[in-house]
Amino acid sequence: MPTAAPAVVTVTGAAGTIGYASLFRIAAGAMLGHDRHIALRLLELPHAVAAAEGTAMELEDGAFGLLDSVDIFDDARQAFDGAEYGLLIGAKPRTKGMERADLLAANSAIFAAQGAVINDVAADDIRVVVVGNPANTNAAVAAANAPDVPANRFTALTRLDHNRAIAQLARRTGAPVREISRVCIWGNHSASQYPDIFHAQVGNTSGAELAADERWLVDDFIPTVAKRGTAIIEARGASSAASAANAAIDHMHDWVLGTPAGDWTSVAMASTGAYGIRQDLVCSVPARSVNGQWEVVEGLDINAFSRGRIETSVAELEEELAAVASLSSI
Ligand code: NAD
Ligand code: LMR
Repeated sequence: MPTAAPAVVTVTGAAGTIGYASLFRIAAGAMLGHDRHIALRLLELPHAVAAAEGTAMELEDGAFGLLDSVDIFDDARQAFDGAEYGLLIGAKPRTKGMERADLLAANSAIFAAQGAVINDVAADDIRVVVVGNPANTNAAVAAANAPDVPANRFTALTRLDHNRAIAQLARRTGAPVREISRVCIWGNHSASQYPDIFHAQVGNTSGAELAADERWLVDDFIPTVAKRGTAIIEARGASSAASAANAAIDHMHDWVLGTPAGDWTSVAMASTGAYGIRQDLVCSVPARSVNGQWEVVEGLDINAFSRGRIETSVAELEEELAAVASLSSI
């Protein structure tokens, strides 16, 4: 039996490509489960409200049994009022030739403003996933502007990178994706990210065994995963959308309903200081959801190769945070 009170889900950038690819699956129960009613709040810029209204008509035409309401706003304060789940997608995407950090100046102000609004009007236990790039630092900016909300309620999306890593391992080994576990993305959602397979299980093979082919690891696997976003922009002329929506839904699903037993996922979250990562950073780490809270998987043995890669990506996060501080939006 569905529970009576609908979950209030606010999606920013709802008329954009990722928004469009997310909303129908959220309405169908893919994010919060097939017994949870949903009240959707779509936030858009004024010029895109008409497009969001078209999407709302299509949502209505989907006749989703779980979808109690769809409301459209161009005012963040109204859109986040009482919000329990926030998918912060609305932001500029990069285009060919750009790095995600090139979006910092344009996008960080959006997340500073939305963080402050969430602080004032959202549910106390809101769960936020930042998708808009550069996602880690935007999440840090939002959290810094929401002093009354625990920092661990703000996360950024590296689940797409995690899923990409699994897909590449499946392609390499022939193991089905369902038999691949304990992969982890460390660091930034950027080309410096480190997809770590040293603790992974890939079908009947250990990730460490696969990693012994260092040439494949360094010249093929790591750059393929880390530069997949660029490859997609080059191929389709626009950044990934359906796979990003899928990953955001996976992220929220596991946060609320739990990670599978014996596995973990990758979450960019406020550092707890684990693995020596500076505490004001939003850094991707291996994480499990326990009773609806992300917990870092601690105590993994990090070899020198991994340590060096993690440090490089963490250093980039430190630079981004310094750059955003100089824009005075944090
Ligand atoms: P898009 O341009 O298709 O859509 C963005 C939408 O956001 C637009 O409709 C725009 O009007 C809206 N918007 C902009 N500012 C807003 C604001 N302040 N409030 C509400 N809405 C606002 O872009 P997209 O392809 O959907 O990508 C969105 C973001 O997600 C980009 O920054 C992109 O780089 C990022 N992204 C991240 C990942 C990831 O894995 N973290 C993956 C793919 C894309
Ligand atoms: C991705 O990883 O596909 C997104 O972050 C979009 C991008 O700019 O690469």
